[in-house]
Amino acid sequence: VFYDARGSAIYEEITDLAVYYPTRAETEALLQHADAMVDALGDGRPVSVVELGAGTALKSVILLRALHARGATTFVPVDVSPTALSLACERVAREVPGVQVHAIVSAHEPALAALPPHDGQRLLLFLGSSIGNYEDPAAIALLRHMRHAMRAGDALLLGTDLRKDIPTLLAAYDDPQGVTARFNLNALVRINRELGGHFEVGRFRHQALWNEEASRIEMHLMSLGRQQVRIDALDLVCTFEDGETIHTENSIKYDTAHVDRLLEPAGLVRQASFHDAGHRVAVHLIRPG
Ligand code: TRP
Repeated sequence: VFYDARGSAIYEEITDLAVYYPTRAETEALLQHADAMVDALGDGRPVSVVELGAGTALKSVILLRALHARGATTFVPVDVSPTALSLACERVAREVPGVQVHAIVSAHEPALAALPPHDGQRLLLFLGSSIGNYEDPAAIALLRHMRHAMRAGDALLLGTDLRKDIPTLLAAYDDPQGVTARFNLNALVRINRELGGHFEVGRFRHQALWNEEASRIEMHLMSLGRQQVRIDALDLVCTFEDGETIHTENSIKYDTAHVDRLLEPAGLVRQASFHDAGHRVAVHLIRPG
């Protein structure tokens, strides 16, 4: 619901925020360990990198550069935003010339199901802790789809955010400039445009809170005052009490044991984990089990 053209652009703004550590920490982990990752991965065959939710491929080029230095590399960025993908294509052409790019405008699961059979090595990329936006059963289901797109010798690089002190977590999801608020509220803008909704966006307030039991940041939109909102396409009228919230998203924070609990039922095993210097995030190298 968040990643239309406007949402994708606002998310790019989030990744530039000083308080939003996940992107910078993951970039740092990739810069520091790209060669070690590629060493652990490589079996000499040409590599096809399939990235789910590639966005503008800012982080992907770090790995593509390391892979391309060793042999033939192709890049298949998958994203629901064609705008983001065309920027990704331009970036790769500019920064890692020689890498072939075949972009796919698609959601994750249909793209995985539609990948052609492959001869070389396939490397799936799922970065940005996007797995944390799925509750465990849905995360396992998505990982299973990834597993089905893999054969012996293939690999997955999975980025996860890690549990840490609560103020740092909360600040990352509630920045003083209000960029994250705009991102969250864009879900309502989108319902207005695409479903004939009548939300007054100014009458909802962005809220981020920590749920310890579920180990996740929750994003909510809180109703300012009692209000009724029509959504024409659904022939629906929603009533919101003052202070009632719409729970829009989760961002789960993991430890290693939690990651392994997701991988095992999906038929995957963690081979190695790489971190930024501050151990804020992890990038796991995962193989078919
Ligand atoms: N994958 C991002 C994350 O969990 C998504 C995200 C960042 C997000 N900020 C948000 C989702 C605010 C909803 C609202 O870190």
